[in-house]
Amino acid sequence: MSKPETGQIDSVMQEDRQFPPSTEFSAKAHIGSMDKYHDLYAKAKDDPEGFWGDCAKEELHWFEPFQQVMKQDGSEYSWFLEGKTNVSYNCLDANIEAGHGNRTAILWEGEPGDTRALTYSELHSEVSKFANVLRGLGVASGDVVSIYMPMTPELAIAMLACARIGAVHSVIFAGFSAGAIADRNNDAEAKVQLTSDGLFRRGKILPLKETVDEALEKSPTVGKCIVLRRAENEVSMVPGRDFWWHDLMAEAADVCAAEPLDSEADLFILYTSGSTGKPKGIRHTTAGYNLWTKMTFRWVFDWQPEDLYWCTADCGWITGHSYIVYGPLSNGATVFMYEGAPNHPEPDRFWEMIDRHKLTILYTAPTAIRAFIKWGDEHVEKHDLSSLRLLGTVGEGINPEAWMWYHEKIGYGKCPIVDTWWQTETGGIMMSPLPGATSTKPGSCTTPLPGVVPVILDESLQPVPANQGGMLCIDQPWPGMLRGIWGDQDRYVDQYWSTAPGKYLTGDNARVDHDGYYWIMGRIDDVINVSGHRLSTIEVESAMVSHPAVAEAAAVGRPDEIKGQAIAVFVSVKGAEASEDLRAELKRHVRKEIGALAVPDDIRFTEALPKTRSGKIMRRLLRDIAAGKEAAGDTSTLEDFSVLAKLQGDEE
Ligand code: WT7
Repeated sequence: MSKPETGQIDSVMQEDRQFPPSTEFSAKAHIGSMDKYHDLYAKAKDDPEGFWGDCAKEELHWFEPFQQVMKQDGSEYSWFLEGKTNVSYNCLDANIEAGHGNRTAILWEGEPGDTRALTYSELHSEVSKFANVLRGLGVASGDVVSIYMPMTPELAIAMLACARIGAVHSVIFAGFSAGAIADRNNDAEAKVQLTSDGLFRRGKILPLKETVDEALEKSPTVGKCIVLRRAENEVSMVPGRDFWWHDLMAEAADVCAAEPLDSEADLFILYTSGSTGKPKGIRHTTAGYNLWTKMTFRWVFDWQPEDLYWCTADCGWITGHSYIVYGPLSNGATVFMYEGAPNHPEPDRFWEMIDRHKLTILYTAPTAIRAFIKWGDEHVEKHDLSSLRLLGTVGEGINPEAWMWYHEKIGYGKCPIVDTWWQTETGGIMMSPLPGATSTKPGSCTTPLPGVVPVILDESLQPVPANQGGMLCIDQPWPGMLRGIWGDQDRYVDQYWSTAPGKYLTGDNARVDHDGYYWIMGRIDDVINVSGHRLSTIEVESAMVSHPAVAEAAAVGRPDEIKGQAIAVFVSVKGAEASEDLRAELKRHVRKEIGALAVPDDIRFTEALPKTRSGKIMRRLLRDIAAGKEAAGDTSTLEDFSVLAKLQGDEE
């Protein structure tokens, strides 16, 4: 390898396995061949306005037709101009009109084992009632409603009720602190807060209302709070401010016409953890987002009416917005929703539920898959998972080793795996296999969906050759794209559009192989520079995880006088002793797998890795620890502070 001059990233990963779809799967699929994919892809690329204009007319209900498909004004993009539609209408009324009122929309299971099912008609009626409740409290179109609720059907009902009347929801994951809620409420100037008494998590009750009470002391714009009864724990209600959900619903009429809303009316804000302290509210609007989630759900999950689909995410993340609520429901899908932890009462909870409900599609995160591997195959083997026909992953790159486990142990070798690459900002899936068409390669998100035109650039903004890593950008606008950062359009332009003018900067590095397959290499900020070679975190980590003793690994660079940076890897082991021998063996293993350049200088064993609440490894903190510094910066999204404390205190 020669030293790259332009900031390309050297790929050291070798992964040649390929898994074509079965002819049986392809025969029934929406997109059953690469020819069909190439055809769609070419149409969307060559004539985006024609392609998306036709899709929008066909897939969404229009109270008033749009006059123009797309308009660009600097870095601001608008879609389906002057059209009027309503996302709640598209998810509910449209399905009822199509004759699916009696189809189950949400099949729900609480952590204690209680279950509920709501048909599309029932959901429509609950949403209409709650929309009236919100209006009754003075919520009007454009007002922000802050949602801090458990994974119950009411969370989806609340989101859809906001969409019905043009209120903007800001869902905050129900694990965030009072301070984090207040920051988000203040940034959004939220008017109403929704919460519950508590929620069930690993058999315990998490007192959400208590946290909200503290948050509302510091949220001056929030005047009302609606509280769902869920856990029956004791709460204090502030007269005039706090109302019980069931009291208000008992009085509410179940008719509420969906308000015709402008295509570009704000649908929601979703805060992501920026690397600086200030929360960053990603803004998504009505028609484009609705269309993107509807189409991508059908393409990627090859959704069929008889499917029982489960996305294990929480509605507090974009995955829950797009692939629990809006994408599936606008297709008329039956969505399984689960409240609790994957290891309660036992580590087989997921497999037990899949078996009992006969679920057919499972969409989960690599971090969960690595946890299941660590907990042991016996929990999986107890159950019959043959109802599954498709598996998906999202959130991070999946290490090939974990991919193979998922394929064999969960998919019985027969289910296609869709490794879906996208971001809060992109609104929906951008790159993924199409399960009836694409031959998959473990660790690759394969190819872009129709309408997605990626480019990989080096630091001088030149496209890189095959197999060289560089900055992943998107070269053509797409309907689901973010429209801005709430209250801070300068930051939006600066962060996403100024590095490579006219192109959307994803912030990820990637390479494309000789077959045109994309391999995400991690965040741009996480690149490790060893003697002028820029290495990707995911490749080093995947080499580590391919050793049978390693459950999970996180690679970071630390300063090194000679090499610029040295590689430090934090490793959690499974079924082995953390020892000097293992350390030496792991170094040999990496040398053999990907070469001497990527051999870690430090290997630190740890019980667990610091993660965000959505399961992403916080490499930023690990970099500080590896460099011997106190972990600085924002830790408000860190899931478990004790992990960080242990890593810092542990001098080995
Ligand atoms: C970042 C976006 C997408 C919804 C959940 C996370 C990483 C996501 C993949 C994947 C490799 C992935 C990227 C991306 N990422 N999916 N399949 N392969 N990396 O949304 O919190 O906005 O995070 O997650 O780094 O930029 P998010």
